This record gives sequence, C-alpha cells and structure tokens, in this order.
Amino acid sequence: MRQFTTILITGGAGFIGSNFIRYLFEKTDFKGNIVNLDALTYAGNPASLADIQARFGATRYFFEKADICDAGSIEKVFQHYDPDAVVHFAAESHVDRSILGPGTFINTNILGTFNLLETCRKMWEGRSDVLFHHISTDEVYGSLGESGYFSETTAYDPRSPYSASKASSDHLVRAYHHTYSLPITLSNCSNNYGPYQFPEKMIPVMILNMLEDKPLPVYGDGKNIRDWLYVEDHNSAVWQIMCKGIVGSSYNIGGENEWENIHLVNKLCELTALQTGKDPDRYKKLIHYVKDRPGHDQRYAIDCRKIKEELGWQQAFSFDEGLMHTVKWYLSNGSWIEGIKSGEYRRWMEQNYQGR
Ligand code: NAD
Ligand code: DAU
Repeated sequence: MRQFTTILITGGAGFIGSNFIRYLFEKTDFKGNIVNLDALTYAGNPASLADIQARFGATRYFFEKADICDAGSIEKVFQHYDPDAVVHFAAESHVDRSILGPGTFINTNILGTFNLLETCRKMWEGRSDVLFHHISTDEVYGSLGESGYFSETTAYDPRSPYSASKASSDHLVRAYHHTYSLPITLSNCSNNYGPYQFPEKMIPVMILNMLEDKPLPVYGDGKNIRDWLYVEDHNSAVWQIMCKGIVGSSYNIGGENEWENIHLVNKLCELTALQTGKDPDRYKKLIHYVKDRPGHDQRYAIDCRKIKEELGWQQAFSFDEGLMHTVKWYLSNGSWIEGIKSGEYRRWMEQNYQGR
C-alpha cells in the first residue's frame, strides 16, 4: 500500500474534487495534509468545503487560489508544500460549454495539464515514492451503438472539443511516464452524480427546474444513454488506485448503471415528488424536448472488470439510494444553490437554452 504525506489536489473546489477531499477526511485513514489548488472558475465554489475549512483549515487543509495555466504559480505551491502526490481533477468539464467556446478547454485541459506535468518532472526528478493521478473521462473513447463497452484497451475516438482536450491530456500523462518515468496512474470514469454538482449538468438542472416550475429540457429524442456513477463510488475507486494501482496503468470506473435520459428524467420527477409531496405528473408535464446537442454521443458504457478484479473495488451505492440522497441534498441546501445562481449562471442558462 502506498502512503502519502501531502496530497495536492487540483480542482478541489469543483464537484468531484470537493467530494474527494471530504471523502479523504471522513472515510479513509489518510492522516496527512491536503492542498487544494483551484482557480475558482465559475465551477469552483469554496462554499462546498466550508465545513472542511472550519475543521481542518490551517492544520491539515490548505487552499491555494491558482491557475494551472500559470506555470509559475504551480511551482510556487509545489515549493511551499512539497507534495508527494498530485490528484489532477481541475478541468473545464461541461460538453455544451466546449461546443460554444472550445478555447478555454484547450488551455486548461491540455496546457494546464502540461504545466502540472512539467512541474512534477522538475520537482520530483528521480523519485519513485511519488504519484501523479490523472482524472479523465469515458468520453475519450467516443460513442457506442446498442451493444459493447469501453475497456482500457478501447481505441480513443473523442468527438467533442471537451473529450478531445481530455484525450490529449491523457496522452500527455502517459507520455511523461514512458519518456521521463514519472510515476502516474490514470482513471477514466462515467457520468458522476451526487451533492455539490454545478447545475449545468443534467441531474441538477432537472431537480432545480422542477422546484421552480421551469421546463425540463431533454435534448433530442431523450434516448441517449449514460452510465451513472455515484460520486462517492468514483472517489473510493480513485483512492484505491492511488494506494494500490499499478504505476503506469489506466483504470476504467463505471456505475454499471445505464439509462436512457428520458427514463432518468421521469425517475427524477417521481423521486422529487416523493420529497416535496407534489404529484409526479405535475413535474412530468414540464418535460420539454429541445434541439439536440451538436454531435451528441449516443451511448457510454464502461467495462470496469479490471479495477474490480485487480484492486477489489466495487460500487457501494445503488442508483435508487444515490439518486434519493442527491435529490434530498438539493432540496435541503438552498443557500449553496442561491450562492451559485449568480448573474454568470443565469447568463449561461439563457445562452445555452436560447433557441433550443
Ligand atoms: P467541475 O467543473 O465541477 O470542477 C472543475 C474544477 O476545476 C473547479 O473547481 C474549477 O474552479 C477548477 N478549474 C477549472 N479550470 C482551472 C484552472 N485553469 N486552474 C485551476 N483550477 C481550475 O468538474 P467535475 O465535474 O468535478 O470534474 C472533475 C474532473 O473529473 C474533470 O477532470 C472532468 O473531466 C472529470 N470527469 C468528470 C465527470 C463528471 O461526470 N462530472 C466524469 C468523468 C470525468
Ligand atoms: O461521461 C463522463 C462525462 O459526463 C464527463 O466527462 C463530463 O465532464 C460530464 O459533464 C458528463 O458529460 P455529459 O455530457 O454526459 O453530461 P451532461 O450532464 O451534460 O448530460 C448528460 C446527458 O443528458 C447527455 O446525454 C445530454 C443530456 N442533457 C443534458 C443537459 C444538461 C439533456 O438532455 N438536458 C440537459 O439539460
């Protein structure tokens, strides 16, 4: 089992990163320090870690506002904290935004990853007791038809600016291992859901629109399929890879939980109605088919036998349990939601759904 003293987490103020930091403090025996390096873009929210800051701030948890596109800032953070592991979550993560404006995806996801790798190469030269874990996505593999699964050996075939930028970053990470012997591991996972997800992604968009009696925008015919993974299950997999994964290896992480979007939206209507005491049909009537996402990938499905067989990982949350927890979380965290519904958020929603 690998052990770490100081873990530098990039993008720790975002959805999965903030859940990962909470997971490390609350659900593992990790006793060291965590440094959260985040630029606080529209998707980064320090409020997601207010409890962690209050309990561990300045003793075991340290926040550094820095942009991974700025190599000098990353180096300073490295020099100050001397981390022995990096977990790289920071990215532009939303496919629709990448279609409207790919430039920031190229900068953050490709150049930002390159800067981090360069810093690690310099600072960790010759060390084998360190680890760079890269967080990536199943979207690098492209789109599936009715059958088949993405495995670790599936050829890359990214089809959106987002997935192309993530695919580039994956290749860079592997290249640094092969060329410079940087100790790396890599994971590609399916759609995460759970608390603290920014409401531009499908599940929080639907729950929050129901609460405001707004249309539930289903893209195209609603028959696209995603494999849904509860965020804590993703994070337990990442931690197991960090502790026990083979250096230089990639692991696929999935929920083994495929649903058509329209099925999921109907299910969310029912679960939300259970909590609010309203009639589910009231929410279902809000379902509104809108213009499809350009180049919309049809189906993602992960074959995660490798991580199960090699590391003994397994999902702990059923879909019903994870979704109910998520719905309840959004219903009882009004102040977090109000905090992010800034002018920027409203502008995005208007721009994204205009004309659909
Ligand atoms: P998110 O958009 O919620 O959070 C991204 C975080 O990165 C934010 O805190 C943001 O401030 C920070 N960030 C963005 N640009 C930065 C920069 N230039 N410098 C420093 N920080 C910056 O994303 P997420 O959904 O939590 O995804 C995290 C990672 O997981 C990403 O790499 C994403 O590609 C990957 N991933 C996400 C999913 C999913 O379903 N959400 C699935 C598979 C893989
Ligand atoms: O598969 C992993 C990927 O999952 C991650 O790499 C991405 O960072 C993450 O954003 C997610 O990408 P998707 O595009 O699959 O997620 P999104 O929540 O945007 O959309 C899920 C599905 O729902 C997709 O088929 C598009 C559809 N959709 C989405 C939104 C926001 C709708 O029908 N209506 C919506 O309003």
